[in-house]
Amino acid sequence: MDIRPVIVGNWKMQLSHKAAVEVARSVRDLLKAQPLTSDVVLCPSYPTIPAVQEVVQGVEQVGVGAQNISLEERGAFTGQVSVQDVKPFVSWCIVGHSEVKAAMGDDDQMIAQKAALLLNHDISPIICIGETEEERNLGQTIAVVEKAMKELLQVIPRTSFPKVVLCYEPVWAISSNREEAPMPDPQEILSIVMVMRKQLAAAFDAQMANRVRILYGGSVNEHNAADYAKEPGIDGVLVGSASTHPKQLVDIVAAVQKVWTRA
Ligand code: PGA
Repeated sequence: MDIRPVIVGNWKMQLSHKAAVEVARSVRDLLKAQPLTSDVVLCPSYPTIPAVQEVVQGVEQVGVGAQNISLEERGAFTGQVSVQDVKPFVSWCIVGHSEVKAAMGDDDQMIAQKAALLLNHDISPIICIGETEEERNLGQTIAVVEKAMKELLQVIPRTSFPKVVLCYEPVWAISSNREEAPMPDPQEILSIVMVMRKQLAAAFDAQMANRVRILYGGSVNEHNAADYAKEPGIDGVLVGSASTHPKQLVDIVAAVQKVWTRA
């Protein structure tokens, strides 16, 4: 399998249906101007997924993702969305985003189960892992990350791991939580990513530890994306608010592609 960087645009609930389709069209057209050496994933809200999929259909390496999925496939689960219903339209799905955890109470075990469910349906999970500000202040960052990884390693088999994308996303670094706090130091981010790779190496081997793509997420924009992606070991970025602006997202793709090297 070819290893490429990944750039994920998490549009959250920021765009109307119409605006999201327009953003997808602009991103598609702007991306045509440069050779694409990364995977670009657009994650609109559920009702807009089919329309965005239609816009990017046939554009190689540009895919569509959901922002979450139900743990259940069918049943009396009002307001939830089954993996079976997004499957025709997506190749990717974010799980474990801190906003979902806060709103729905997903814990590490549920997130691992959702990731396994997606893999059973041949959808790549983009699994967010990261500590809150409180956990960081208590010095619990590594413990939080290691616990989340441990749950994943318990339920996802070795053969499925190459399809997994992990994202270290400290909750305090997300733009809506950040206010004036400084951006996290890329070296600090890399040190946590290396903790994750070490766990992969211990569970499997060094080859697998190097093969799984691990992204950084939190206040990424076109000016700072390269600072993170240039660290060997960080394989791309998960972008929230900047990804709703086509030019910014495409500039982030260009910046990542320019500096990305494999460890
Ligand atoms: P942000 O969001 O890039 O706006 O910080 C990232 C995220 O929450 O996924």
